[in-house]
Amino acid sequence: VDSDGNHMVVKYANGYPFPSFEKLKDNLDEFKKWTPKPQDVFLFAYPSSGTHWLWEVTCMLIEGKAERLQLEKEHYMIENSSSKTLDSLKEPRVLNAHVYIEQVPECLLENNKIILISRNPKDTAVSWYNHNVADLETDYTGKFPAFYELFRVGNVPNGDWFNYNKTWWEWSKGRSNVLWVTYEDAKSDLKSVTKQIAKFLEIPASDELCQAIAQECTFKKMKAEKHNLLPFELRGDMSFYRKGQVGDWKNWFTVAQNEDFDQIWDEKMKDCDLPVQFTI
Ligand code: A3P
Repeated sequence: VDSDGNHMVVKYANGYPFPSFEKLKDNLDEFKKWTPKPQDVFLFAYPSSGTHWLWEVTCMLIEGKAERLQLEKEHYMIENSSSKTLDSLKEPRVLNAHVYIEQVPECLLENNKIILISRNPKDTAVSWYNHNVADLETDYTGKFPAFYELFRVGNVPNGDWFNYNKTWWEWSKGRSNVLWVTYEDAKSDLKSVTKQIAKFLEIPASDELCQAIAQECTFKKMKAEKHNLLPFELRGDMSFYRKGQVGDWKNWFTVAQNEDFDQIWDEKMKDCDLPVQFTI
């Protein structure tokens, strides 16, 4: 409940907060015991960090074509899929989730390629706010200032941005099976990020293919073509394509909120060297 009395539906799976998904806890319990194939690729991120964008890029690289794939996106989201559904997907699978590290099977952490994505928390807060307002399941009708009060203390679906990103960041250091990508880098130069992902996945993608994928996955193009939106029954008219910019937070944060957040930032990030860009 926010300070204006608006409710937001948050579901818990073994103590971790998530948006409402049918069978969330069962799916995550099954996932923890699931064994992926060595070639399966995973994208993990706090929500609103560009997960579905980079999922599209990665799928296109694996297929070797700059073409929109006719995949049922919702099945590739781990929170939303049973292990039976995951098993039924064509291999190699590119799966994504907003899970915490403790919810991921040990064998996956050791053996599979993992792409971790982060986005600066101010833009993430704005994007996550708009997502929660549009998402039928969350059923949130509050205004941004009230949402901000919850976000700053991590009391929103998926919890605390700092905790989530710092945990993954510290774990990822020195690991060759992990690539860390930021939303801001992808926004500045998607072709380079596409090349980085190809190199990491050991896919011999030509310069032309990376260029073509970057062109296919611009915000404008993906939004116009409604790339792999979730079915209406699942999430209402919530879209993964809202504004797609770095720095939109300046249109939402008041001066006081910005100062407040900078203070929280200084405290929580003083011992963390995670690269974060608030503007580009
Ligand atoms: P905004 O709400 O700021 O527009 P996720 O997939 O992790 O939920 O992230 C959603 C965010 O990524 C949204 O941010 C969405 O617009 C943005 N996004 C999706 N596709 C994009 C693209 N092709 N280029 C840039 N941003 C994109």
